[in-house]
Amino acid sequence: MKGLILAGGRGTRLYPVTRAVSKHLLPVYDKPMIYYPLSALMLAGIREILVISTPEDLPQYSRMLGDGAQWGLQLSYREQATPRGVADALLIGESFIAGEPCALVLGDNLFYGTGLGEMLRRAAALQRGAMIFAYPVRDPERYGIVELGAADDRGHRRVLSLEEKPVSPRSNLAVPGMYFYDRQACELARSLVPGPRGELEITDLNQLYLDRSQLHVEVFGRGTAWLDAGTHSSLLAAANFVHAVQDRQGLMICCPEEIAWRMGFINDAQLARLAAELAAEYGEYLRHLLHP
Ligand code: DAU
Repeated sequence: MKGLILAGGRGTRLYPVTRAVSKHLLPVYDKPMIYYPLSALMLAGIREILVISTPEDLPQYSRMLGDGAQWGLQLSYREQATPRGVADALLIGESFIAGEPCALVLGDNLFYGTGLGEMLRRAAALQRGAMIFAYPVRDPERYGIVELGAADDRGHRRVLSLEEKPVSPRSNLAVPGMYFYDRQACELARSLVPGPRGELEITDLNQLYLDRSQLHVEVFGRGTAWLDAGTHSSLLAAANFVHAVQDRQGLMICCPEEIAWRMGFINDAQLARLAAELAAEYGEYLRHLLHP
């Protein structure tokens, strides 16, 4: 399965901070924001990843992440000239996806929690249809929303409807910015037309899967944290969350070096080299993984 990270857009909700710096390069406590969605793809076992950003910002991402070999990944880069919408990622990435299933994650989304890796690896095994997630929020009007029916005797809940940022949401279940698709995704994305806000909406692509009865939804339990960092307040909340958990446990959230090592993408010697390059606490943490 191929992975895509969408890290473009203008970041206007974070102005003036993002006037000269790309949003996904900003720190969420001790790591650049893009490390978090990248970690989610890595936890899913995905190693071939396309980073999409603006023509101005893309060189900075490739300077930061390189070709990915240091983490046992193959990273490539492609421009999104204008923010045409989240579903545009599938058009930009079509030749990279090359007819395989793919996972798309938004550059400002952070996932963390018990059993998450396993859930993502299950989703990455998907061969038919699409898999999205649902997460209860207090402000559903800010998100794509999914309405689910009652559970059947096997605990499955049918998808009743999808809506993008409804004024009167039919449920409190937001759809996080992490989507798994089978081989049909690019072809279906080509049939999309811009929605009311002038963008190719990912909710419309998910609706096409729903129309075909091929949309699967997994509800993240309360033990999972899903945060986005697209506003000043949510960016601070995400940083505070990462700090609070890491400070308490002494375990890092979404550290790509650690995930690469635990997933077997890199060996002990490679992790030791990465640790040596990183000064201070971050490098110390990696050294401690090897010599607890
Ligand atoms: O965060 C989850 C939500 O993300 C979903 O619940 C919604 O269904 C989905 O539409 C999306 O909503 P947002 O309005 O929050 O998306 P936003 O425009 O903020 O873009 C999300 C990320 O993708 C952000 O980091 C910028 C980047 N982006 C966005 C667009 C539209 C791009 O790189 N290019 C784009 O064209």
